[in-house]
Amino acid sequence: MNYEETRGLVRGLNDRYPDIGLIVVREQRTDLEDWVDDLPLHAVLSPHAADGTTQELLDRLSNWLISNGRADAEDFEVEPEPEVDDVISGLINTEPISDSESVEDSERTSEESVEEAPEEIEWEFPPLEEGVPSEAIAVVAPKGGQGKTTIAVNLATGLAEVAPNSVVLIDADLQFGDITAVLNLRPERTIVDAVADAAQDELVLKTALVHHPDGFFVVASAVSPELGDQVQASSLAQLIERLREFFRYVVVDTTPGLSEHTLVAIEHVTDAVFVSNMSVASLRAMRTEFQLLTTLGLMPSNRHIVLNQVDKMSGLTVKDAEAVIGAPIDVAVPKSSAVLLASNRGIPLIHDDVRDPAARAVRSVVMRIAPEAFPKRTKIQRRRRSHGTE
Ligand SMILES: Nc1ncnc2c1ncn2[C@@H]1O[C@H](COP(=O)(O)OP(=O)(O)OP(=O)(O)O)[C@@H](O)[C@H]1O
Ligand SMILES: [Mg+2]
Repeated sequence: MNYEETRGLVRGLNDRYPDIGLIVVREQRTDLEDWVDDLPLHAVLSPHAADGTTQELLDRLSNWLISNGRADAEDFEVEPEPEVDDVISGLINTEPISDSESVEDSERTSEESVEEAPEEIEWEFPPLEEGVPSEAIAVVAPKGGQGKTTIAVNLATGLAEVAPNSVVLIDADLQFGDITAVLNLRPERTIVDAVADAAQDELVLKTALVHHPDGFFVVASAVSPELGDQVQASSLAQLIERLREFFRYVVVDTTPGLSEHTLVAIEHVTDAVFVSNMSVASLRAMRTEFQLLTTLGLMPSNRHIVLNQVDKMSGLTVKDAEAVIGAPIDVAVPKSSAVLLASNRGIPLIHDDVRDPAARAVRSVVMRIAPEAFPKRTKIQRRRRSHGTE
């Protein structure tokens, strides 16, 4: 149905049955916001949405109705894997929903339900909310293979739940960046295009980004180490600053150690996430890195220390690790086979295996940047578990 037909039907339904929940199934287009603003909808769902996403959306609506006192939890006690008809009849048993509340909710849930966009869709940079500063987060480690890319990818994924399509992930591991492999993306353009003179033009910059179906953009690393070498540190700095004009969150994955590029990235961010595994060598290197950054006056205002691949078999405890680094650990991420599995499947861990202990720990890294990333998810999970549908 076109807009006019949809408006007629939605308004008619809303007038006759003011307590009905309305979800429009429609592709994400640039005029989506107009639809959401103009119509008394609860949500817009992509026709490509997976069953899990659809169920999640219904769960969120149910939770919203329950938390607003419009329905009781029993209204939604449906069998595992409920038929859509069952859920809709549950939603009908609610108090009338006023126009203003409907619109407010429709904005929220429609953003959360954004699914994979068909290739031909042109993405707009969503305007930054006035007064909300852009935040940039660099993920760094003194040594290689500690889990920077894992943390960076999941950070972008989690932040995109809070600010859909207002998150960009830069693969600044210029020679051997592997974000596109970890996310199973096939970019046509890379960071080389994003820092080219032509990218001063907003449209050109836009085409240098790859969209991920979980609602964030990626600046891919160069296709070869030689091409990656062409990217100057100053160009990386400009790119971070430029993307901060358009995006609420800019996440930067880096090369191991303190190369010129990594130092520049650290200089242009608000937060740095430092990652180390449980090896004494790596922990010592992190201590040295902190000392150096402090001496240079480059320590970002917000520092987060992540101890990754935490494993009892390492012979060290978290306390031991803290003693070596000389600073408290903010988040300890356990070693888990789910990390490699998710990466081989090309799916961000926090969406691939939400209950895995490493995924939960990684989500708490997201929460340090955006505390609102947590309650929604746990609510859904708790609710699902209580109904035994997972
Ligand atoms: N908590 C974890 N449990 C188990 N495996 C993990 C964990 N974190 C990361 N890994 C695995 O360790 C390897 C290195 O992780 P990752 O690529 O994220 O590190 P990196 O710091 O980006 O490495 P590089 O320096 O090469 O860029 C990957 O195979 C990843 O799947
Ligand atoms: Mg990496």
